[in-house]
Amino acid sequence: MVAVLPISLLLQHLWVVGGSGTGKTSAARGWLMQLIENGYGCGIIDPHGDLYQDVFTGAAGMNRRVRERIVLFDPLHPTHSVGLNPLELLPGDVPARKADFLANVVSKIFGADPASTPRMQQMLRHTFWLLMISKRTLLEFPFVLNNQAYREALLACVPPSEQLLLDFWLYEFPADNPRLVHEWTQSSLNKIRPFVSDPAMQLIFGQQRSTINFRQIMDEGLVLLVNLHKGKLGDNTAHLLGAFILAQIQLAALSREEIPQDERRQWTLFVDEFQNVLTDDVEEILTETRKYGLALMIANQYYEQLDAHPKLQAAVLNSVRNWAVFRLGAKDSELFGRDLFNPSLDMVKDVRTRYTSMGTEEDIVWRPLGEIEEMMWRQVKNLADREFWFLTKGKSQAAIKLRTRTLKKEVLRPRHVAQLEELSALNLSNATPHDQVWAEIARRYPDAPDSNPDRSDEGPDIPTVEWEDKT
Ligand SMILES: Nc1ncnc2c1ncn2[C@@H]1O[C@H](COP(=O)(O)OP(=O)(O)OP(=O)(O)O)[C@@H](O)[C@H]1O
Ligand SMILES: [Mg+2]
Repeated sequence: MVAVLPISLLLQHLWVVGGSGTGKTSAARGWLMQLIENGYGCGIIDPHGDLYQDVFTGAAGMNRRVRERIVLFDPLHPTHSVGLNPLELLPGDVPARKADFLANVVSKIFGADPASTPRMQQMLRHTFWLLMISKRTLLEFPFVLNNQAYREALLACVPPSEQLLLDFWLYEFPADNPRLVHEWTQSSLNKIRPFVSDPAMQLIFGQQRSTINFRQIMDEGLVLLVNLHKGKLGDNTAHLLGAFILAQIQLAALSREEIPQDERRQWTLFVDEFQNVLTDDVEEILTETRKYGLALMIANQYYEQLDAHPKLQAAVLNSVRNWAVFRLGAKDSELFGRDLFNPSLDMVKDVRTRYTSMGTEEDIVWRPLGEIEEMMWRQVKNLADREFWFLTKGKSQAAIKLRTRTLKKEVLRPRHVAQLEELSALNLSNATPHDQVWAEIARRYPDAPDSNPDRSDEGPDIPTVEWEDKT
C-alpha cells in the first residue's frame, strides 16, 4: 500500500492542485498503483512519460493477472502503432452529433470558442461528418478542403439520409470561388494540417479501424497507459492527441448509460496537466459520475491556469467534490483557504472520525485542532513537500491534512525484464506493424507513395467509395 486515500475516494473525481515539485504526480502514482493492485481499472494520460514509465515498470513487476490487464498507448513505439480513428462510426453513433463533438474538441484545444468562431466550427464539423460517412480518416481532412474532385467523389456517395450534410457542401460552401474557399477553409486547415503531417500521428490516425476499444477497457477493468511525449511531439500535437484520446474515452463512458448500474464497472482516469487536453464538454462526465462510471483524477499547478478555460474551471469547482491541495503560492493559497474552502471545527472533527473508521489513522499527520482553526490559506502556503490538504466539499465540507507515503523510484529488477518484454509483446496485439499501416495508407493514396498528404499537391487518386447501407 503506497497511498493514504481509501479506495472509495479514488473512485470519485479528484482535483489535485499544487505548485511545481510538491508531489502531485508522485501522489497520483501511489493512488494508481493502489487501484491496480486491488483489481480496479484505471488509466493515465501522461504528457511527459515519467509516470507512464513508472506505472508500466511497477505493473510489470506484479503478478501475471495484473500484467495481462495493461494496455499501452505509445505514439513513438519503434515498430507498432495503435490505430485510432475518431471518425469511425460505431453502433449507435449519430454522425452529425459525433462530428459536432469532435469539432468542439478541436476548437477548444486551440483556445477558440466555437460560438465566436462559427466558420471554423462549421468547416470542422462538416468535414468530419463527410469523412465519417465515407469511412475515411483524419489524414484525408486536407484533401476534402483542398481538392474539389476528391470532395465531389466523396459527396457523390453520401446517402440521402444525410441531406443536411449534402446541403452544406452543395449549397452553402462557396466551392466555385477560390478566394472564398481559401477564406473558409484556412483556419481549420491550419489546425489539422500540422497534426496529420506528423508521421507518428499518420501511423495512429491513418488506420481506418481503431485497434483499441475504450469501452472494453473500461468495462473489463483494464489499465490504459498513454504517453503523450510532449517533449518530442511538441505541445500542439501532444495536446490534440491527448484531446482525441480523451474524447474517445468520454464517448465510451457516455455510451455506458445503457448498462445497468450494478454492471457498470467504475474506471478512474488520471490526467496530468489536464487544462491542456480536457475541454468543458467533460462537464457531463463530471456531474454524473455514477451514470457513466468514469472518475477523473485531474492535476494542475495553479488556479490561474484555468482562467483561460472559464467553463472548465466552473465545472471543476462545482462538480469535483474532492480536492487534494498541495503547497500553493500566496495568491492561490488565499483563494483556496478563504474563498473556496473554509471548514469549521465541526467539519474537521467529522472527517477525523470518518478517516479513523476507515483505518487510515496511521497515515494522517494530526495537527492540534486549534491550529486547523486558523485561516487555512496560511496552511496551504506553508505545506511541506508531499503534504496536502484533502478537502471534501459538499453539504458538509471537511478538510484534513495528509502526507503521501514515501515512494521509491520503480527500478526494473532482472527478473522483471522478461515480464516486461512479455508485457510489451502482449500489447502489440492492440497495435499494427508500421509497414502494414504505411501500406494501408498508400493503398488509399496511390499517388502519394510517401504517404504524406501534406506534400502531395495533386492530392490522391479519386477513391471509389463504397457505401454500405446498413438499414
Ligand atoms: N511520495 C513520494 N515519495 C518519494 N519521492 C517523492 C514523493 N513525492 C514526490 N517525490 C519526489 O519529489 C519530486 C517532485 O515530485 P512530483 O514530480 O510528484 O511533483 P509534481 O507536483 O508533480 O511537480 P510538477 O508540477 O512539476 O509536475 C520528484 O523528484 C519525486 O520523486
Ligand atoms: Mg507532475
